[in-house]
Amino acid sequence: MFDNIVILTGAGISAESGIPVFRSETGLWEQERVEDVATYDGFVRDKKKVHDFYNKMRLSLADKQPNAAHLALTRLQKEWPKTHAGKVSIVTQNIDNLHEKALSEQVIHMHGELMSILCEKCHASYAFAGESSVDTVCENCNSRGHMRPDIVWFGEMPYFMDEIEQLLSKCSLFMSIGTSGVVYPAAGFSQYARSQGATCIEFNLEQSAVVSNFDWGLYGKASETVPAFVDHLLKTGEALKEPKS
Ligand code: APR
Ligand code: ZN
Repeated sequence: MFDNIVILTGAGISAESGIPVFRSETGLWEQERVEDVATYDGFVRDKKKVHDFYNKMRLSLADKQPNAAHLALTRLQKEWPKTHAGKVSIVTQNIDNLHEKALSEQVIHMHGELMSILCEKCHASYAFAGESSVDTVCENCNSRGHMRPDIVWFGEMPYFMDEIEQLLSKCSLFMSIGTSGVVYPAAGFSQYARSQGATCIEFNLEQSAVVSNFDWGLYGKASETVPAFVDHLLKTGEALKEPKS
Protein backbone atom coordinates (compact mmCIF):
# COMPACT_ATOMS: atom_id res chain seq x y z
CA MET A 1 0.00 0.00 0.00
CA PHE A 2 1.44 3.37 -1.03
CA ASP A 3 1.49 6.48 1.14
CA ASN A 4 3.46 9.50 -0.15
CA ILE A 5 3.70 9.88 -3.91
CA VAL A 6 6.24 12.03 -5.78
CA ILE A 7 5.63 12.84 -9.42
CA LEU A 8 8.39 14.23 -11.64
CA THR A 9 7.18 15.81 -14.87
CA GLY A 10 9.08 16.88 -17.96
CA ALA A 11 8.37 18.44 -21.34
CA GLY A 12 6.50 15.34 -22.58
CA ILE A 13 3.52 16.02 -20.30
CA SER A 14 2.98 19.39 -21.99
CA ALA A 15 3.68 18.25 -25.56
CA GLU A 16 0.03 17.44 -26.25
CA SER A 17 -0.89 20.94 -25.06
CA GLY A 18 1.18 22.35 -27.91
CA ILE A 19 4.38 23.21 -26.06
CA PRO A 20 7.42 21.82 -27.90
CA VAL A 21 9.71 19.37 -26.12
CA PHE A 22 13.47 20.04 -25.98
CA ARG A 23 14.85 16.85 -27.49
CA SER A 24 13.21 15.49 -30.63
CA GLU A 25 13.63 16.02 -34.36
CA THR A 26 11.54 19.19 -34.08
CA GLY A 27 12.55 19.97 -30.48
CA LEU A 28 13.59 23.34 -29.17
CA TRP A 29 17.25 22.40 -29.01
CA GLU A 30 17.21 21.75 -32.77
CA GLN A 31 16.15 25.37 -33.34
CA GLU A 32 18.27 27.19 -30.75
CA ARG A 33 21.73 26.61 -29.36
CA VAL A 34 21.65 25.65 -25.69
CA GLU A 35 24.83 27.69 -25.11
CA ASP A 36 23.14 30.82 -26.47
CA VAL A 37 19.81 30.76 -24.63
CA ALA A 38 20.20 28.36 -21.73
CA THR A 39 23.51 29.25 -20.08
CA TYR A 40 24.55 32.24 -18.04
CA ASP A 41 27.44 32.91 -20.44
CA GLY A 42 24.97 33.07 -23.31
CA PHE A 43 22.91 35.61 -21.35
CA VAL A 44 25.94 37.78 -20.68
CA ARG A 45 26.91 37.62 -24.38
CA ASP A 46 23.52 38.74 -25.64
CA LYS A 47 20.99 39.74 -23.00
CA LYS A 48 18.46 41.05 -25.48
CA LYS A 49 18.40 37.77 -27.39
CA VAL A 50 17.86 35.77 -24.21
CA HIS A 51 15.16 38.11 -22.84
CA ASP A 52 13.38 37.93 -26.20
CA PHE A 53 13.64 34.14 -26.37
CA TYR A 54 11.89 33.74 -22.99
CA ASN A 55 9.46 36.62 -23.68
CA LYS A 56 8.26 34.72 -26.73
CA MET A 57 7.83 31.52 -24.74
CA ARG A 58 6.06 33.37 -21.91
CA LEU A 59 3.62 35.04 -24.28
CA SER A 60 2.99 31.75 -26.08
CA LEU A 61 1.65 30.25 -22.83
CA ALA A 62 -1.40 32.52 -22.91
CA ASP A 63 -3.49 30.24 -25.11
CA LYS A 64 -2.09 26.90 -23.90
CA GLN A 65 -4.34 24.65 -21.85
CA PRO A 66 -3.53 21.73 -19.57
CA ASN A 67 -4.30 18.32 -21.03
CA ALA A 68 -5.82 15.19 -19.51
CA ALA A 69 -2.49 14.20 -17.90
CA HIS A 70 -2.13 17.48 -15.97
CA LEU A 71 -5.79 17.27 -14.92
CA ALA A 72 -5.42 13.66 -13.75
CA LEU A 73 -2.49 14.66 -11.51
CA THR A 74 -4.57 17.44 -9.94
CA ARG A 75 -7.31 14.91 -9.27
CA LEU A 76 -4.80 12.51 -7.72
CA GLN A 77 -3.37 15.31 -5.56
CA LYS A 78 -6.84 16.18 -4.26
CA GLU A 79 -8.34 12.70 -3.89
CA TRP A 80 -5.41 10.60 -2.66
CA PRO A 81 -5.10 12.11 0.85
CA LYS A 82 -8.81 11.47 1.49
CA THR A 83 -8.26 7.72 1.60
CA HIS A 84 -4.54 7.31 2.18
CA ALA A 85 -2.02 8.40 4.79
CA GLY A 86 0.18 10.42 2.47
CA LYS A 87 0.33 13.31 0.06
CA VAL A 88 1.06 13.76 -3.62
CA SER A 89 3.91 16.12 -4.52
CA ILE A 90 4.54 17.37 -8.03
CA VAL A 91 8.11 18.26 -8.97
CA THR A 92 8.38 19.64 -12.48
CA GLN A 93 11.29 20.41 -14.75
CA ASN A 94 8.88 22.41 -16.87
CA ILE A 95 8.92 26.18 -16.94
CA ASP A 96 5.37 26.40 -18.29
CA ASN A 97 2.33 27.05 -16.07
CA LEU A 98 0.11 24.14 -17.09
CA HIS A 99 0.13 22.40 -13.69
CA GLU A 100 -1.02 25.71 -12.21
CA LYS A 101 -3.68 26.12 -14.91
CA ALA A 102 -4.83 22.60 -14.03
CA LEU A 103 -5.14 23.86 -10.42
CA SER A 104 -2.49 21.61 -8.93
CA GLU A 105 -1.14 22.90 -5.65
CA GLN A 106 2.39 23.63 -4.49
CA VAL A 107 4.08 22.61 -7.70
CA ILE A 108 7.85 22.57 -7.25
CA HIS A 109 9.46 24.22 -10.29
CA MET A 110 13.02 22.94 -10.00
CA HIS A 111 14.12 24.63 -13.26
CA GLY A 112 12.35 27.93 -12.60
CA GLU A 113 9.28 29.42 -14.24
CA LEU A 114 8.49 31.55 -17.26
CA MET A 115 5.85 33.42 -15.24
CA SER A 116 8.48 34.68 -12.81
CA ILE A 117 11.44 37.03 -13.06
CA LEU A 118 14.63 37.25 -10.99
CA CYS A 119 16.71 40.27 -9.93
CA GLU A 120 20.45 39.63 -10.01
CA LYS A 121 21.02 42.57 -7.68
CA CYS A 122 18.69 41.87 -4.74
CA HIS A 123 17.97 38.20 -5.63
CA ALA A 124 14.22 38.75 -5.36
CA SER A 125 12.02 36.74 -7.68
CA TYR A 126 8.38 37.53 -8.28
CA ALA A 127 5.44 36.77 -10.56
CA PHE A 128 5.86 38.36 -13.96
CA ALA A 129 3.58 38.18 -16.98
CA GLY A 130 4.93 40.78 -19.38
CA GLU A 131 8.02 41.17 -21.53
CA SER A 132 11.37 41.71 -19.84
CA SER A 133 14.37 43.60 -21.23
CA VAL A 134 17.74 44.95 -20.17
CA ASP A 135 15.82 48.05 -18.99
CA THR A 136 13.28 46.35 -16.76
CA VAL A 137 13.18 47.85 -13.26
CA CYS A 138 13.11 45.53 -10.24
CA GLU A 139 9.84 45.82 -8.31
CA ASN A 140 11.70 44.96 -5.13
CA CYS A 141 14.87 47.10 -5.14
CA ASN A 142 13.93 49.58 -7.90
CA SER A 143 17.23 49.15 -9.72
CA ARG A 144 17.27 49.03 -13.49
CA GLY A 145 19.06 46.58 -15.73
CA HIS A 146 19.52 43.62 -13.40
CA MET A 147 16.56 41.42 -14.28
CA ARG A 148 16.97 37.98 -15.81
CA PRO A 149 14.53 35.19 -16.70
CA ASP A 150 13.84 33.11 -13.57
CA ILE A 151 15.05 29.99 -15.33
CA VAL A 152 17.69 27.55 -14.09
CA TRP A 153 20.21 27.34 -16.91
CA PHE A 154 22.76 24.63 -17.65
CA GLY A 155 25.55 24.87 -15.11
CA GLU A 156 23.26 26.39 -12.46
CA MET A 157 21.91 24.65 -9.38
CA PRO A 158 18.25 23.61 -9.65
CA TYR A 159 15.88 25.07 -7.07
CA PHE A 160 14.49 23.28 -4.00
CA MET A 161 16.96 20.38 -4.04
CA ASP A 162 16.85 19.86 -0.25
CA GLU A 163 13.09 19.80 -0.23
CA ILE A 164 12.99 17.40 -3.19
CA GLU A 165 15.48 15.03 -1.55
CA GLN A 166 13.29 14.97 1.58
CA LEU A 167 10.21 14.18 -0.48
CA LEU A 168 11.99 11.43 -2.42
CA SER A 169 13.31 9.82 0.73
CA LYS A 170 9.77 9.60 2.14
CA CYS A 171 7.80 8.44 -0.90
CA SER A 172 6.64 4.92 -1.60
CA LEU A 173 5.61 5.61 -5.21
CA PHE A 174 7.65 7.67 -7.68
CA MET A 175 6.15 8.49 -11.07
CA SER A 176 8.21 10.08 -13.83
CA ILE A 177 6.20 11.51 -16.72
CA GLY A 178 7.46 12.75 -20.09
CA THR A 179 11.12 13.26 -19.39
CA SER A 180 14.01 11.92 -21.45
CA GLY A 181 16.15 11.24 -18.38
CA VAL A 182 19.30 12.87 -19.69
CA VAL A 183 19.44 16.03 -17.56
CA TYR A 184 20.74 15.62 -14.02
CA PRO A 185 20.01 15.91 -11.16
CA ALA A 186 16.35 15.21 -12.13
CA ALA A 187 17.38 12.12 -14.12
CA GLY A 188 18.82 10.64 -10.93
CA PHE A 189 15.65 11.01 -8.83
CA SER A 190 14.35 7.59 -9.86
CA GLN A 191 17.54 5.87 -8.73
CA TYR A 192 17.45 7.67 -5.40
CA ALA A 193 13.74 7.02 -4.80
CA ARG A 194 14.24 3.34 -5.62
CA SER A 195 17.21 3.07 -3.27
CA GLN A 196 14.89 4.43 -0.57
CA GLY A 197 12.37 1.68 -1.27
CA ALA A 198 9.89 3.40 -3.59
CA THR A 199 8.15 1.70 -6.50
CA CYS A 200 9.23 3.66 -9.58
CA ILE A 201 7.17 3.88 -12.78
CA GLU A 202 7.89 5.88 -15.91
CA PHE A 203 5.36 7.25 -18.41
CA ASN A 204 6.78 8.10 -21.81
CA LEU A 205 6.37 7.48 -25.52
CA GLU A 206 9.47 5.31 -25.38
CA GLN A 207 11.95 4.06 -22.81
CA SER A 208 13.91 6.92 -21.25
CA ALA A 209 17.68 7.00 -20.82
CA VAL A 210 17.28 5.86 -17.20
CA VAL A 211 14.72 3.09 -17.80
CA SER A 212 16.74 0.63 -15.69
CA ASN A 213 15.92 2.64 -12.55
CA PHE A 214 12.22 1.92 -12.94
CA ASP A 215 10.18 -1.08 -11.86
CA TRP A 216 8.19 -0.74 -15.07
CA GLY A 217 7.00 1.79 -17.62
CA LEU A 218 3.73 2.72 -19.28
CA TYR A 219 4.44 3.68 -22.88
CA GLY A 220 2.08 5.84 -24.91
CA LYS A 221 0.70 9.37 -24.85
CA ALA A 222 0.70 10.86 -21.35
CA SER A 223 -2.86 12.13 -21.94
CA GLU A 224 -3.95 8.49 -22.13
CA THR A 225 -1.61 6.53 -19.86
CA VAL A 226 -1.67 8.95 -16.91
CA PRO A 227 -5.48 9.30 -16.50
CA ALA A 228 -5.91 5.51 -16.84
CA PHE A 229 -3.22 4.89 -14.23
CA VAL A 230 -4.60 7.54 -11.85
CA ASP A 231 -8.14 6.13 -12.15
CA HIS A 232 -6.95 2.69 -11.19
CA LEU A 233 -4.69 3.97 -8.41
CA LEU A 234 -7.53 5.95 -6.84
CA LYS A 235 -9.98 3.06 -7.13
CA THR A 236 -7.73 0.29 -5.82
CA GLY A 237 -4.68 1.89 -4.21
CA GLU A 238 -2.64 -0.33 -6.52
CA ALA A 239 -0.37 0.62 -9.41
CA LEU A 240 -1.48 -0.69 -12.80
CA LYS A 241 1.11 -2.55 -14.87
CA GLU A 242 -0.71 -2.73 -18.19
CA PRO A 243 -1.47 0.54 -19.98
CA LYS A 244 -5.09 1.02 -21.00
CA SER A 245 -6.00 2.98 -24.06
N1 APR B 1 3.50 11.60 -23.71
C1 APR B 1 4.52 11.09 -22.96
N2 APR B 1 5.81 11.36 -23.19
C2 APR B 1 6.10 12.17 -24.21
C3 APR B 1 5.11 12.76 -25.03
C4 APR B 1 3.75 12.42 -24.76
N3 APR B 1 2.74 12.91 -25.46
N4 APR B 1 5.72 13.53 -25.97
C5 APR B 1 7.03 13.43 -25.75
N5 APR B 1 7.28 12.62 -24.69
C6 APR B 1 8.58 12.28 -24.09
C7 APR B 1 9.69 12.08 -25.09
O1 APR B 1 9.74 10.72 -25.51
C8 APR B 1 10.92 12.47 -24.28
O2 APR B 1 11.46 11.34 -23.59
O3 APR B 1 8.95 13.38 -23.31
C9 APR B 1 10.37 13.44 -23.23
C10 APR B 1 10.82 14.87 -23.44
O4 APR B 1 12.19 14.94 -23.27
P1 APR B 1 13.00 16.31 -23.30
O5 APR B 1 12.61 17.11 -24.50
O6 APR B 1 14.43 15.98 -23.14
O7 APR B 1 12.43 17.11 -22.04
P2 APR B 1 12.84 17.00 -20.50
O8 APR B 1 13.24 15.61 -20.15
O9 APR B 1 11.76 17.64 -19.72
O10 APR B 1 14.13 17.93 -20.47
C11 APR B 1 14.79 18.12 -19.24
O11 APR B 1 16.30 19.67 -20.22
O12 APR B 1 16.75 21.43 -21.68
C12 APR B 1 16.50 21.08 -20.37
O13 APR B 1 15.82 22.48 -18.68
C13 APR B 1 15.31 21.77 -19.78
O14 APR B 1 13.76 20.95 -18.12
C14 APR B 1 14.42 20.64 -19.34
C15 APR B 1 15.40 19.49 -19.18
ZN1 ZN C 1 16.05 43.80 -7.20
